[in-house]
Amino acid sequence: MIYECAPMEGVTGDLFRQAQRLHFAAADCYYTPFLSPTASRVLAARELREVEPSHNEGIRVVPQLMGHEPNDFIWMTQALRDLGYDEVNLNLGCPSGTVVTKKKGAGLLTERELLRRMLDGIFDLSPLPISIKTRLGMADAEEFPPILELYNDYPIKELIVHPRVQADQYKNHPNLDMFAYTLAHSRAPVCYNGDLFCASDVRAFSERFPSVERVMLGRGLAANPGLIEELKTGAKPTTERMRAFHDELFRRTSERIPDRRALLFRMKEAWRYFGCSFEGAEKPLKLIRRAQNLADYENAVTRLFADCPVRENAGFTG
Ligand SMILES: Cc1cc2nc3c(=O)[nH]c(=O)nc-3n(C[C@H](O)[C@H](O)[C@H](O)COP(=O)(O)O)c2cc1C
Repeated sequence: MIYECAPMEGVTGDLFRQAQRLHFAAADCYYTPFLSPTASRVLAARELREVEPSHNEGIRVVPQLMGHEPNDFIWMTQALRDLGYDEVNLNLGCPSGTVVTKKKGAGLLTERELLRRMLDGIFDLSPLPISIKTRLGMADAEEFPPILELYNDYPIKELIVHPRVQADQYKNHPNLDMFAYTLAHSRAPVCYNGDLFCASDVRAFSERFPSVERVMLGRGLAANPGLIEELKTGAKPTTERMRAFHDELFRRTSERIPDRRALLFRMKEAWRYFGCSFEGAEKPLKLIRRAQNLADYENAVTRLFADCPVRENAGFTG
């Protein structure tokens, strides 16, 4: 099985990737949160941090791009090739209202002409192979078969399917019947993404879909950075290793974000996922959420690691 780390803006950025791979078995591939190629032809500071080669040492990283202008996409792909990347990913799944109104992300799925123009332009001129991360449509999974027919006209390196529609956001359940349809009809190799929150979820998925060789893990890996190792070797994450992972992420984040309030905000966001992996952690997690300064934060974290063992089936719980 190939394990891919999902792009998650604010969660699985370069600092997470390094902390994860240094303390647990690494993912086979990590996708950056989306970059936005614009006509101004510059990589924003946040984007540069994501793709700076020294920030991605020791792992395979695929930059993800979101937009609907082929020329801007090609410009950024050339810049990424010059930095040493060997693949880019197109985001056709972001469900955010502001993105969708601009006909980007999942918003392109119902704009068939614009989508075709985009795919024609980028597959014609891209200096790098392109993979696609897609939802099933905007409102109804039945939108997907014609979208897949369109995808089949292009040499897509890998089709990552999150089988929800935009209107679901993250509610309801992934539509596994439409995923099965995709497996049967996609010309491109298919990767599954969605609600594989712990090792037993991945095993149950593999039983239902034994031919699937690639899965992408998002919230589950953010909750249990040892999830891939657990799947590969059976070794469950220990408190000591979870603490070492946290301390690495905290140290790197402190160096990156000197502003203490912003640092606390970022670490609290990480705990929304990571906190799920600990038994009986409601109280210390509440203290972490309420921490107003670093001393409060560090006390709450110490208490959590001292009092709360890692859960048996560690992963995301919602
Ligand atoms: C906070 C957050 C940020 C995300 N950012 C991105 C993104 O930048 N690009 C993208 O394609 N998907 C993004 N996603 C979606 C995830 O990549 C993934 O498709 C989704 O979480 C479902 O997978 P999971 O159930 O394994 O978490 C984001 C999801 C969350 C919760």
